[in-house]
Amino acid sequence: MASSHYFNRKLHSLLGVIPVGFFLIEHLITNYFATRGPEAFNEKVEWIESLPFLPFLEIFFIFLPLLYHAVYGLHIAFTAKHNVGNYGYFRNVMFMLQRVTGVITLIYVAWHVWETRLQKLLYGTKVNFDMMAEILDNPFMVAFYAIGIVAAVFHFSNGMWSFLVSWGITIGPRAQRISTYVWMVVFVIVSTIGLMALYAFANPSMAGQL
Ligand code: HEM
Repeated sequence: MASSHYFNRKLHSLLGVIPVGFFLIEHLITNYFATRGPEAFNEKVEWIESLPFLPFLEIFFIFLPLLYHAVYGLHIAFTAKHNVGNYGYFRNVMFMLQRVTGVITLIYVAWHVWETRLQKLLYGTKVNFDMMAEILDNPFMVAFYAIGIVAAVFHFSNGMWSFLVSWGITIGPRAQRISTYVWMVVFVIVSTIGLMALYAFANPSMAGQL
């Protein structure tokens, strides 16, 4: 029992970085092309859609790893005991936020996949700049997307901090302190990249001038 729990925990941790974390970064960088205008973004989407074995890649490198990480993540979030005693107040708050942002990310990603990828699969809807501009032509959806993006990036960045500790890479207090600063900077840069794309989709007349 204990060893299968250990294995599940390690697999959950690894999948959060490879491939789910890599995919998050790739996805936000692709979206960033929206700031250069609809054509630039649509070109990237077409390139991705032209990749060979795309359904295989999507299922085995994105969907299944994310599903495992999310389902086991919910189990951890609602059953694991809190991080008592080992760390200071700041790390305990981060530990709690890791779980909260995991749940927010799950709600956001489920909705986002439904209104983009699944619409394409079920109804053949074209995924492009106009699709996102239409979805984001509504302040409520812009706020929902902004919260979802910031929560996912926080979850990834703070998750990287704990990943490096749990895989024995950042061991001492100094390494862990430096790691805190590094992942804070990553959080700010990657959130900005994600929010700039969001701004471009929500303000199509500005895209290309950002
Ligand atoms: C964009 C999607 C996601 C990414 C990139 C991601 C990434 C990560 C990373 C890198 C970690 C750190 C692994 C470690 O602690 O060693 C982590 C941990 C965690 N994730 Fe996710 N995750 C995502 C979605 C989710 C979802 C949907 C849930 C569902 C609730 C979730 C729940 C958790 C939990 C509870 C932890 C903490 C594990 C622990 O403290 O032991 N994650 N995630």
